[in-house]
Formats: sequence, structure tokens, C-alpha cells
Amino acid sequence: MPVTIRRATIDDIICMQNANLHNLPENYMLKYYMYHILSWPEGSFVATTRDVDEPQMDQLSLEDGKGQETKLDPNYLAPGEKLVGYVLAKMNDDPDQQDQAPNGHITSLSVMRTYRRMGIAEKLMRQALFALREVYGAQFVSLHVRQSNRAALHLYADTLEFEVLSVEKSYYQDGEDAYAMKKVLKLDELHPKNFANRKMAEKLEDDFESDLLVV
Ligand SMILES: CC(C)(COP(=O)(O)OP(=O)(O)OC[C@H]1O[C@@H](n2cnc3c(N)ncnc32)[C@H](O)[C@@H]1OP(=O)(O)O)[C@@H](O)C(=O)NCCC(=O)NCCS
Repeated sequence: MPVTIRRATIDDIICMQNANLHNLPENYMLKYYMYHILSWPEGSFVATTRDVDEPQMDQLSLEDGKGQETKLDPNYLAPGEKLVGYVLAKMNDDPDQQDQAPNGHITSLSVMRTYRRMGIAEKLMRQALFALREVYGAQFVSLHVRQSNRAALHLYADTLEFEVLSVEKSYYQDGEDAYAMKKVLKLDELHPKNFANRKMAEKLEDDFESDLLVV
């Protein structure tokens, strides 16, 4: 089933928190998700897909007969529609850093395990970086990543071209160090359409090469 990337809304935050709990040890209260979406409503994105089978109406909630609804499956945004990834982004609103140019921050990013290595995180990140620059005027964006997180490091450093600014010792609760990373945002380079068919273009190049070999 195709995966859709769209802006995150307040209705998505329970599923975003659920994905975060599944994928990362750094977790946040619902009100922190709400703070992001209400303050910077165009900065965060979700990746969703639809079940192949008929949607089951009880995936979302169950009415208990007294007007109370119980949410059943936090993977589902709506019957048949589930969240497979998200990026939670914000502008830096630290009052101690008001002398800096406007800048964004990636608070959290994750993709559900069975949907990884399909380019979803890259797409989510490119949408968020573009929105932070275009909508909120961010001149650069920052994030933290565990030193041991090879997948995320590859995504940030190689695919998205973030630079490592510093190592923050014992940044994480379990004592692991973090790389503090930064990317300068240039609007003309960021437009997601520049990257829409990147994987496809690479694949076509490969096919062309193998055609030449056969000849
Ligand atoms: C990190 C994570 C978000 C990547 O998601 P993803 O959708 O699989 O990533 P993509 O498919 O968009 O891959 C983007 C790039 O990262 C690379 N990458 C992804 N997973 C990788 C892995 N396990 N090892 C090495 N490189 C990896 C891809 O090869 C790709 O690079 P390329 O385009 O040059 O080939 C995902 O593994 C995840 O959710 N991990 C747990 C949560 C997490 O660590 N979040 C980041 C916290 S800072």
C-alpha cells in the first residue's frame, strides 16, 4: 500500500506518541506534542498507510453504551489508516538564545520497524526542513543524535548533509553522548520536489548501466 506524507494535526498526536514509545527511549508527554502542533502547525509531518483488508470499525474506538469511547489501537488514525512514521519539529524558542537567527529544532523522528529503509524518514525530514525554512524563516536547524545510532547518523550526515557541531557528554539519561548536529537551510535547495524521485532516478541509472554491460 502506498505511504502518504502529510502535515501532522492535533488528531495525530496519540499515534505519534505511540510510535515514539515503540521506537525511541526519549519520550514526551502528550502536551509536548500538542505544544509543537499548536505553536508551529506547519512544521511536523506524519507518514500514513492504509490496510489492504477492509477497515475494521473497532480499530479506532469502542463505544461502551454509556456514551464513553475507549480508544483501542493507537497505531490507527482512522479505521484502516495507520501511522507508520512521524517527525516532530519546532522553532527554537529558548529565551536564552534570542540573539541567534531564527532556527528550528528536530525534536523527534521515527519510522515503524517494518516500514524502514523505504525512504520514509528522508521524506519526512525534507518536508519538515522545507517548512521550517519557508513558513517560519528558520536559517538553520539543529538536532541531537546518539553516538551509537548508525542509521540516524547516516540519514542526517550523509543523506541530509547535517554537520556535527559538537559532542555533548552524557546528554542522554542513560549516560550516552550525543552529537549535536546542524544544517544551514537554503530555500532553493530544500524544495521537496527536487528529491521526489531521487531513489527512482538512481535506480534508472543502475538499470542503464546494466543494459550497457549486456550489450
Ligand atoms: C533512523 C530511522 C528514522 C530511519 O528511518 P528510515 O525510514 O528507515 O530511513 P530512510 O529509509 O529514509 O533512509 C534514509 C537514509 O538512511 C540510511 N539508513 C536507514 N537505516 C539505516 C541503517 N539501519 N543503517 C545504515 N543506514 C541506514 C538509508 O540507507 C538512507 O540513506 P541513502 O538514501 O543514502 O540510502 C529509523 O531507523 C528509526 O525510526 N529508528 C529508530 C528511531 C530513531 O533512531 N530515530 C532517530 C532519533 S535521532
